[in-house]
Amino acid sequence: MKQNPWKKDFPQLNNQLHYFDSAATSLKPTSVIEQVNYYNQQLSSNINRGMYYESQKATELYEEARETIAKFIHADLNEVVFTRGTTSSLNMVARSFGLNHLHPGDEILTSELEHHSSILPWQYVAHKTGAKLQYIPLSDEGKVTLESFEAAINDKTKVVVINHVSNVMGYVTPIKEMVAIAHEYGAIVVVDGAQAIQHIEVDVKSLDADFYAFSGHKMLGPTGIGVLYGKSDLLDDMEPLEYGGDMALDVMKQQFSWKESPTKFEAGTMPIASVIGLKAAVEYLQNTGIDNIHEYSKNLYDYFIDKIKDIKDIEFYNKSSDTFMFTFNLKNVPSHDAISYFSEKHIALRAGQHCAKLIHDFLGIHSSLRGTIYFYNTYEDVDFLVETLIEAIDYFKKLGF
Ligand SMILES: Cc1ncc(COP(=O)(O)O)c(C=O)c1O
Repeated sequence: MKQNPWKKDFPQLNNQLHYFDSAATSLKPTSVIEQVNYYNQQLSSNINRGMYYESQKATELYEEARETIAKFIHADLNEVVFTRGTTSSLNMVARSFGLNHLHPGDEILTSELEHHSSILPWQYVAHKTGAKLQYIPLSDEGKVTLESFEAAINDKTKVVVINHVSNVMGYVTPIKEMVAIAHEYGAIVVVDGAQAIQHIEVDVKSLDADFYAFSGHKMLGPTGIGVLYGKSDLLDDMEPLEYGGDMALDVMKQQFSWKESPTKFEAGTMPIASVIGLKAAVEYLQNTGIDNIHEYSKNLYDYFIDKIKDIKDIEFYNKSSDTFMFTFNLKNVPSHDAISYFSEKHIALRAGQHCAKLIHDFLGIHSSLRGTIYFYNTYEDVDFLVETLIEAIDYFKKLGF
């Protein structure tokens, strides 16, 4: 059985937990936990304000985090805005860019595969501006294809809002090609990268995406921190959403001016410990190598798929997954009943609609169970999951489901 060299870095895995809920949030390695503790125990001071050592060190680490992240996604420094997470990043674009640039008759193009944090802000913008939300028809497998995208985009399309990886199916969307097509129509592309950044190399310059959003907590980092990448000319053109400390350049009695991006978007005291933790998370991903993470996870996923292929009474909704996600139901068993069985065995899966109701409507189901294989999972975890799946099917059958 292949040894897992990374499991020891994740203290939470020292108990009986079999963690397959990494798409909801990832576990945190010791190096991240230590950096967050270091800030809280030894610095715990605000940034950009104090002249004393602790404040200056915190400021230095905060800005070093921006540099690390900018390099990681191949962005310029002023294009990396810290936010509370993907949801905040996507709302920032919708409110700050969308509300000010869309007009009646304009179209926003998205898909039924999106997470609610991509769809709902743009529904709000559509209602406020008179623009219309349109959906790219999905293939039978539930994929966004270039053909369907090309058929759906038109001269009225001003914004395309699309995930890089779906949080229900785990498919990778052909972002680079879609961005090229969207730009021919003069539309900007907002990419939800929440499920991509921890699995695949992201080069925002090569993708040519206009905006790219992601969360720290899904990429080994702390909660409460995320990133909005935006092309600098677009960020320059956007108004801040929040007004207050640190973002103002000059303040008079009746008016004020604001600093340049990214500072104008980071009003008030930011989650400094989480930013510093995110830097450690990116360093961990870089040191481990996204390719190694991908290769190990793929081998383990293939092992899982091979082990479950003959099990009847499981319905899988994604036949394959680029990011090792498996979404399924036990036949005739509501997902919330099934999840209780797995939880008792300390298997962490997720039940429900995963904040993506429209794809469940598309699949004709109310809810599903979702698991993800990530690089800290072991072959023993997968064996135990498969054993438990078989037991669960039997258990619910005996109960008459
Ligand atoms: C594809 C996708 N987009 C957006 C989000 C929202 O992320 P957060 O809750 O970190 O803001 C998630 C989280 O589940 C997601 O999977």
